[in-house]
Amino acid sequence: MGDRNASWMLVGEGPGADEDRLGEPFVGQAGKLLDHMLGALGLTREHQVFIANAVKCRPPHNRTPEADEIAACLPFLQRQIELVQPKLLIALGRPGAQALLDTAISIGAARAKRFERQGIPVVVTYHPAYLLRNPQDKGKAWEDLCFARSLVPPV
Ligand code: URA
Repeated sequence: MGDRNASWMLVGEGPGADEDRLGEPFVGQAGKLLDHMLGALGLTREHQVFIANAVKCRPPHNRTPEADEIAACLPFLQRQIELVQPKLLIALGRPGAQALLDTAISIGAARAKRFERQGIPVVVTYHPAYLLRNPQDKGKAWEDLCFARSLVPPV
């Protein structure tokens, strides 16, 4: 959801219970943090940003999606990318990165680097829910967003 002409597409993990109920991504505390981070860049989720998820429905007991589940949902994410045609993709957490890069990575090792998916630059950073549990890494996530902005300024 968000701006269908967005230059940035953020790819999270998957909907939680509240997101499933409301049909919107990132409605809880992690979403608030994400909104603050976007706000610090002068962005809102309605403008310049489109938020998608690696999986499109909630895995049982809200567990992390598995590789085959991410692969099963990939055609939907791929179609979102084709429709929005973002200039930059940002993976929020490992499932998002797995979907975009088609490989399992560790965020700590992959962040602050430029990857590519079908010619579109990809930046990987921590998931906001992880940052709520590990606030000491918020500075790194901020660096990652600034790195993303240096690659593709959101317009
Ligand atoms: N976490 C995600 O990764 N995506 C959502 O939509 C909500 C929480």
